[in-house]
Amino acid sequence: MMNHNEVKHVSSKVSDGSVLLDVKNLKTYFHTFRGLIKAVDGISFNVKKGEVIGIVGESGSGKSVTSFSIMGLVESPGVVNADHILFDREDIHKVDEKRMMKVRGKEISMVFQDPMTSLNPLYTIKQQMEEMLILHAPQLSSHDRHERCVRLLQQVRIHNPEEALKMYPHQFSGGMRQRVIVAIAMAADPKLIIADEPTTALDVTIQAQVLHLMYDLVRKKDMALMLITHDLAVVSQLADRIVVMYSGKIMEQGSRDDIIERPLHPYTVGLLECIPRMNRDKERLYQIPGNVPNMLELPKGCKFSTRCRYCQEICIEVDPDPRELRPEQMVSCHFPLWDREERL
Ligand SMILES: Nc1ncnc2c1ncn2[C@@H]1O[C@H](COP(=O)(O)OP(=O)(O)O)[C@@H](O)[C@H]1O
Ligand SMILES: [Mg+2]
Repeated sequence: MMNHNEVKHVSSKVSDGSVLLDVKNLKTYFHTFRGLIKAVDGISFNVKKGEVIGIVGESGSGKSVTSFSIMGLVESPGVVNADHILFDREDIHKVDEKRMMKVRGKEISMVFQDPMTSLNPLYTIKQQMEEMLILHAPQLSSHDRHERCVRLLQQVRIHNPEEALKMYPHQFSGGMRQRVIVAIAMAADPKLIIADEPTTALDVTIQAQVLHLMYDLVRKKDMALMLITHDLAVVSQLADRIVVMYSGKIMEQGSRDDIIERPLHPYTVGLLECIPRMNRDKERLYQIPGNVPNMLELPKGCKFSTRCRYCQEICIEVDPDPRELRPEQMVSCHFPLWDREERL
């Protein structure tokens, strides 16, 4: 969990409002011998050009499966279905693997959860950065490629880039490795970066540094960022818009201010109550009571009904459809806070 004041929220809406990624009715199911796991079950959201969107939810809510589905990286026994996954108006759900290999890295790149597995221990930093450039910017001469690598490392504030390029991943600290990964993700100037728990493996101060660095770079380069995390404190500081997921569904989505200040879904309220506030001392650390339901025995109605303090009969029986209760704020709940006088 990060402290509130470590990364300041810069409320600079650079997005011009045009949609870059549009995910419609995405369903990713795993057909396992134990039964059908609906890891992602009919979610729709979009990412606008130059926007930072936060995808948040507890572990197991389907965040990583969502990002893998968009990238076309879900493997058997997983099956991905969607009405469409439009990226720059091209339906990347329908394209072949040859085209998708071009999209990955060049148009959309990913920063994965675990920095140890994303870099190959057998190759130098230079070899790994160049691999990306050879693939996606083949027109560069070897001299220009080298210069580009140096510049990219400078952008992630690695101060001795010439030295760093000769090194192997294990010669770096975790934070430095993650900076290299961010540099590689930016190498081909993608329009969208999907960062899946990019800093979870790092300690708190380093987390904030790397996040801030990545944030500043995407803003400067006018890239869109899909920031996936279990930590609402992180996205509450960085995201323009927030999507809240639970058990494969979107519970609520909206602008950062609506989600943080005027949440409509009891689950969002629960997540907000889990954020330790700097200005209140000795507050006990809140946890949403109960556990994330077993994906093989999901409740029939609302997936959150088993843990919800406002649960009624209808919530157990009927899974609520998303409703737009405020402009651009969608919520899937029979009794959103809208209907009550209670506020956080
Ligand atoms: N290859 C797989 N086979 C079976 N189930 C999977 C597979 N990958 C993910 N899942 C299931 O999908 C659900 C969502 O997982 P995931 O997207 O990794 O959650 P999150 O990233 O939000 O923590 C989990 O219940 C997980 O067990
Ligand atoms: Mg995950």
